[in-house]
Amino acid sequence: MTLGVLLSTTRIPGPPGLPLLGSMFDLKRDPLGTYLSGHREHGDVVRFTAGPPGLRVELFGIYSPEGVQQVLATQAANFRKENVFYEEIRQSFGNGLLTSQDEDYQRQRRLIQPLFTRRRVDGYADAIGLETEHLVERWSAAPGGAVDAVDEMSRFALRAVARILFGADLEAALDAVRVNFPVVAHYVTARGFSPKSIPRSWPTPGNRKAMAAERSLYEVCDTIIAQRAAAGGESEDLLGLLAAARGEDGERLDPTELREQVLIFLLAGHETTATSLTFALHLLGHHPEVQRRAREEVDALLGDGRRPTAADYNGLPYLTMVLKEAMRLYPAAPAVGRLAVQECVIGDTVIPAGANVMAAAYVVHRHEKHWPDPERFDPERFTPEAEAGRHRYAWFPFGGGPRACIGQHFSMLESVLGLAGLLRAFEVEALDPRDVPLTHGITLEATGPVRIGLTRR
Ligand code: HEM
Repeated sequence: MTLGVLLSTTRIPGPPGLPLLGSMFDLKRDPLGTYLSGHREHGDVVRFTAGPPGLRVELFGIYSPEGVQQVLATQAANFRKENVFYEEIRQSFGNGLLTSQDEDYQRQRRLIQPLFTRRRVDGYADAIGLETEHLVERWSAAPGGAVDAVDEMSRFALRAVARILFGADLEAALDAVRVNFPVVAHYVTARGFSPKSIPRSWPTPGNRKAMAAERSLYEVCDTIIAQRAAAGGESEDLLGLLAAARGEDGERLDPTELREQVLIFLLAGHETTATSLTFALHLLGHHPEVQRRAREEVDALLGDGRRPTAADYNGLPYLTMVLKEAMRLYPAAPAVGRLAVQECVIGDTVIPAGANVMAAAYVVHRHEKHWPDPERFDPERFTPEAEAGRHRYAWFPFGGGPRACIGQHFSMLESVLGLAGLLRAFEVEALDPRDVPLTHGITLEATGPVRIGLTRR
């Protein structure tokens, strides 16, 4: 069938929204709820419009595993990282591995891929163990025996990724990143959800605040990079390896490119893992039976109190199932965006050239065809047999295709070993209702704290 014939037979499903602004306010106010109601009411491909006439943007939500596979994998060349969101991330954080495209990307991936082999990542297990021990110590002194998992997991994941990036220099970066990163991230998100934003160069209070935060982030990275260059020698952390990495032509990354990679790794590797850990704890706190079973597994393997190694990851299959189920319900990247270059068809819907599309894990992970009783927390969905029987893209928290997450194994290792260390030391109890309010920032975010009660074992 030709595209012309399909065009005349296809539907354009989607909410009408407000006559003049489309779904702009709904998407800004409650993006996740708007994606879900779009799916409920209009099916697996949903067209939203946002913005006033003349500036109107079309956004297609892709809500079936088959459609996601088309966007991320089989037709990946037709879906580029040129949507508003990626443009904003690129402007603030630079042209690093997450944001670059074409030859820049190929070159960067060739340089960086060897730093993420299984063997190298397994070498980070000790750093993860060390950070987990710090956390157990910190929580042992928690006032009132309760903590906010959002804040605590963000600190933990930042320390872990900063440790692999900067090694011994990590402390120098932490404060600046903790203060400035959220400012830039919120700025990027607010602009990403607007069909048209005012130029960044205008001296409005919002622009000035964000630019000052960006400068502070750049400065802290540039200082570490310059100190390293002045000291000479090679270090084994990611920054050292990036600085020493050479392409086939002998070419290296220059200092600005190095900074951009570092920022992109801080961005991609920090709040993402923190979100998974936060909600894994929240769910464990709501499901004492699951927690008991996970702890039995941990105690049998690590009950002697030793620091876990990468080899222990394979000895914790149930805890891994718990984490995967938490990432199903709370995918840290709830939707990944692209821009369609050429017109194409997904399901029975024509996606015009130039349209924004988003492959929405938050919705696909709740698709009733693939996940019966989708809101129920049930780690048994991730037994090897159950996984083998499902569509490859029914669960895709790490994306897929040529641009899949390079940090996937690092993140799983960090989360499973980190959770094991925490369960070994504490019984956890959820102090907030299961359905804490959520929103879609750069990552999935709880809009308030997610409090966890702790009992030292
Ligand atoms: C739970 C944790 C994580 C989740 C859910 C996650 C999710 C993702 C997703 C969905 C993508 C694809 C984005 C797209 O297609 O537009 C991605 C890419 C990427 N992630 Fe992760 N990520 C996680 C942890 C990490 C960590 C720990 C690192 C680094 C240490 C990392 C580094 C990256 C990079 C560099 C890319 C771009 C890869 C490329 O395009 O070649 N991520 N991540």
